Amino acid sequence: MSKETVHIFDTTLRDGEQVPGCKLNTENKLIIAEQLENLGVNIIEAGFPISSPGDFKSVTEISKIIKNTTVCALSRAVEKDIDIAAEALKYAKKPRIHTGIGTSPMHIKFKFNSDKQKIIERAVKAVSYAKKKVEDVEFYAEDAGRTENKFLAEICEKVIKAGATVLNIPDTTGYCLPEQYGKKIKYLKENVSGIDKAILSCHCHNDLGLATANSIAGAINGARQIECTINGIGERAGNTSLEEVVMVMRQHQNLNIDTSINSNLLFSLSNLVSENMGMPVQPNKAIVGANAFAHSSGIHQDGVIKNRETYEIIDPNDVGVTESAIVLTARSGRAALAYKAKKIGYNLDKKQLDKVYQTFLDFADINKNVNDNDIPNIIELSEI
Ligand code: KIV
Ligand code: ZN
Repeated sequence: MSKETVHIFDTTLRDGEQVPGCKLNTENKLIIAEQLENLGVNIIEAGFPISSPGDFKSVTEISKIIKNTTVCALSRAVEKDIDIAAEALKYAKKPRIHTGIGTSPMHIKFKFNSDKQKIIERAVKAVSYAKKKVEDVEFYAEDAGRTENKFLAEICEKVIKAGATVLNIPDTTGYCLPEQYGKKIKYLKENVSGIDKAILSCHCHNDLGLATANSIAGAINGARQIECTINGIGERAGNTSLEEVVMVMRQHQNLNIDTSINSNLLFSLSNLVSENMGMPVQPNKAIVGANAFAHSSGIHQDGVIKNRETYEIIDPNDVGVTESAIVLTARSGRAALAYKAKKIGYNLDKKQLDKVYQTFLDFADINKNVNDNDIPNIIELSEI
């Protein structure tokens, strides 16, 4: 059975860039955008042009250099926003306008002091207006995670009629459970007439740590676009992490969905974004964290030395990490110490290893991590 493609919509440069205290300039954004295209993302959300002259400039410049990937600009359901977005996209080979409005009771009442009917009218008006500027128009129903499914279906139906090509169903507050979010997508697939004319998109925030699980649940239930960021950066607890959703699909072939991402570039992209944004990646971050392929306890090290797959489900090379790391700590066993010593030229027999291991444990208790260049010293102190 051939796999269906899930489009990767990268919003590192828009939603990701909304991280407090972290601003990228146009130059940084151009570097990242170029690498995102090399990575194979299908859509780059380059910014929110009406928000500032700097963002307008970034979207314009990114549109000039990107060759094959769709370049997208965000707008509210406001004509002026859409005008500015279209202007910023004028050099894009494949432009997309992303427009929308809040649809949850909370947003309708407190943000807009409005009602459902007026929200539908504004949504339809915005999509029709954007459609006059570009062919590819994505509609977002902000806070769809907390929007009643029946109303969501109604608004989706109307914006498809107005020309929307993609329907973004954001779990803006990261509220949904995977099953709930999956059912929402399924409900839309089954209850929106004309749904075959549009792609459903997942846009999940990570407030409960469920963004990746929710996006995958959405894709399993028929969504064919996932909106995500490198390293999962974004507002509050962040967005769905690009590297995670890509590797979930790669590792679970039986889902029969995949992306066009060149996964070998994931680690370098992660570093590039982290450096340009000045935002370190947490060491235990899945796929790209410094410890994602590091083993420090004796039992695990022994297994990995015998066969990497005992404790690793991903080949580090597949995501651009050169090799798994055996990290020597006081929790390490003899197997790891012998392995590391051999790598730097010491072949220890069993008796020698027993002695060196005792010195090693004393050293590791004091120094926590033991580096390769500590090993000769430890061997010398052991007087073998
Ligand atoms: O989280 C969200 O709802 C958004 C929309 C503006 C797409 O980022
Ligand atoms: Zn968002």
